[in-house]
Amino acid sequence: MDLLKQRILQEGIVLDGNILKVDSFINHQIDPILADEIGREFYKRFKDMKIDKILTIETSGIAFALFTAYHFKAPLVFAKKYPGKNISDEIYSSRVYSYTKQKEYTISVSCRYISSGDRILLIDDFLANGQAILGLIDIAKQAGASVLGAGIAIEKGFQPGGKILRNQGIRLESLVAIESFNDKKIIFREEEK
Ligand code: G4P
Repeated sequence: MDLLKQRILQEGIVLDGNILKVDSFINHQIDPILADEIGREFYKRFKDMKIDKILTIETSGIAFALFTAYHFKAPLVFAKKYPGKNISDEIYSSRVYSYTKQKEYTISVSCRYISSGDRILLIDDFLANGQAILGLIDIAKQAGASVLGAGIAIEKGFQPGGKILRNQGIRLESLVAIESFNDKKIIFREEEK
């Protein structure tokens, strides 16, 4: 997706530890025009499927997931990392290890918002090690829902997440994939549109 590539090239900063900082349009300030384009693009790529629900994880997945959900006219559900004390609902939960942040955390979704038989599309901003998406798949399984695919804005192709998900037969659509950070220069994987 050229628009996203251009923004990454213009504003992305490669930090030590192979982290791409995109705070100016994704992770801190959000560009709604770009987020809308991204939502449209995910819709275009998955519209052949009947999707009942979009599922993501707070925080940064929510913006793209919301625009995607808008185009599908389907609800967006986000897994919580910080469940409020006043949640008394029954929940599905899964443990997720973040390699980037080197800590494990629990994600949870109220049983009210995913039902058996739901056809789910997962959306997230980054795919690195794939642990976040695997946690969402685990939650969908617990609910008896099926995951029809995963839409990712930025796949870090040199980390194992993409391979893990494709090997599991998940239909994965990444809008841009980064091949490497070569001396802090961003190299995209060629086949991505
Ligand atoms: P995973 O998400 O594929 O499992 O990989 P990992 O555990 O390594 O990622 C942990 C967090 O770091 C995730 O966000 C992920 O989106 C983010 N992340 C991974 N690589 C990069 C990167 O190069 N740049 C940026 N900006 N983020 C990266 P999170 O903890 O869920 O954070 P948030 O959604 O609350 O912001």
